[in-house]
Amino acid sequence: MRSEQQEGAVLWFTGLSGAGKSTLAEATREALGALGRRVEVLDGDAVREFLSKGLTFSRADRDLNVMRIAFVANLLARNGVIAITAAISPYRDTRAQARALCGERFIEAYVSAPLATCEARDVKGLYKRARAGEIQQFTGITDPYEPPEVCELTVATHTLSLDQSVAHVLSTLRSRGVL
Ligand code: ADX
Repeated sequence: MRSEQQEGAVLWFTGLSGAGKSTLAEATREALGALGRRVEVLDGDAVREFLSKGLTFSRADRDLNVMRIAFVANLLARNGVIAITAAISPYRDTRAQARALCGERFIEAYVSAPLATCEARDVKGLYKRARAGEIQQFTGITDPYEPPEVCELTVATHTLSLDQSVAHVLSTLRSRGVL
């Protein structure tokens, strides 16, 4: 029974707000579902409504949020699920801790778009508010984002279409033996 179980993975999307993490996570979920894989998406915005309710955007609280997501993602992955996370997870060191928790199943994907692009998109209107000083500690404006120095894949959402981005993710999952 166990030997027939499919390989789980933690597909860890990191990047600025508005870079496209959630959109890519959902599109990847659909593509993997169509391949018959079990998938869960752990999205920062949703996690902060339940599991991380009440946490702020201080470094300590972001770290706590990220490690909670890593903990749940690892539980899922070790049971054959592909757990896709979509949280800014701005600190390199904290992502390394998430990786250490999840082990070889961890696949870090940098969802990269220039700050100017994310700010121009401003899907939630938060950049505008951050620039106006209405939101403190906003990633990329008044709080740091540390891009990966090394990671399993980079998805440049400002140059790739959504379909191309998903294809890039799937090919990495294939080359790593998850698919
Ligand atoms: S993380 O830093 O802890 O990984 P997470 O991905 O959960 O962040 O939440 C980020 C989302 O919260 C953003 O997409 C945005 O919608 C919202 N948000 C609200 N305040 C901030 C802030 N100060 N910095 C970044 N994102 C914020």
